[in-house]
Amino acid sequence: IKDIKVKILTAEDLDISRFYRFPDSHKGDYGKVGIVAGSKYYPGAAVLCSNAAVQSGCGLCYLITPQEALYFQNLRKPEIIVLPLEGKEGVISFDSFVKFNEYLAKLDVLGFGCGLTRDLEVEKILIHILENFQIPIVIDADGLNTLSSSPKARELLASYKSQKVLTPHYMEAARVLDVDVKDVAKSPIDAAKKIASEFRAICVLKGSRTIITDGDMVFINVLGNPGMAKGGSGDVLTGIILSMIAQGYSAFEAAKLSVYLHSLSADILLEKKTMQTILPSDIIEGLNSAIRRLI
Ligand code: APR
Ligand code: MG
Repeated sequence: IKDIKVKILTAEDLDISRFYRFPDSHKGDYGKVGIVAGSKYYPGAAVLCSNAAVQSGCGLCYLITPQEALYFQNLRKPEIIVLPLEGKEGVISFDSFVKFNEYLAKLDVLGFGCGLTRDLEVEKILIHILENFQIPIVIDADGLNTLSSSPKARELLASYKSQKVLTPHYMEAARVLDVDVKDVAKSPIDAAKKIASEFRAICVLKGSRTIITDGDMVFINVLGNPGMAKGGSGDVLTGIILSMIAQGYSAFEAAKLSVYLHSLSADILLEKKTMQTILPSDIIEGLNSAIRRLI
């Protein structure tokens, strides 16, 4: 039993000890999340990611996004603190990003990638972060796409000293590994382990059966349903992972707990709604029931 390194993820594998809140605790005890996300083209990704973070318990959440992405004001939860940056054709500009250095140095965890687009500015910002920061980082979507096309970012990430979580879906994993997506689909566990080993990171390989690995131990999530197969579900997961890391969980524990809660929330929604009508924003609201069921 000791040698078995692949396990179905169950509630018993989760550490919920940090869900207990001491009566005299304050927001500083629950961590500060920073999220670099969104563009004129994908403002919703930033909204979903940051809404998910504040809905899962972090103390503070800063959204770092270009001004041009702020036309979804009404959908963003007011608890989110927005740092509106100057954009360059709808994408965060490197020059405005570096002005926020001191803010970012105070964060407990940084999320990078949701809805950023693939752009030279995005690559410059990622390289800047990897060269200058020492906080846990969660890389998703266009952050992963940037890694695929930037040998420098890749190398810097591999030697980055803080904890890392990479959350590719199959296509993003194929780009990162420079293989065909069919190869990832054929042996997803190997693909996830390879990514985890190369970057010394936790890899969350997302699919109908999400795989979570540190390169050694592998957990397979069997909760969730095809109602989650909609643009935006992934951004929600990234926000939850960030929030769990901010609350003091290690990258591996945060990834396991977040994947489980994300899909449990979607499953509970099916008691009242359908796979057609559940939305990623409903998964965020449903986190309440999911957490209640777990604790
Ligand atoms: N069963 C269970 N879970 C599922 C299923 C399914 N059939 N289909 C999808 N999911 C879950 C995945 O496990 C994952 O957690 O929904 C989430 C989907 O995440 P992504 O594939 O990242 O998709 P999303 O981010 O929502 O939408 C597209 O990703 O390609 C990037 O940048 C692109 O922003 C875009 C985004
Ligand atoms: Mg995604």
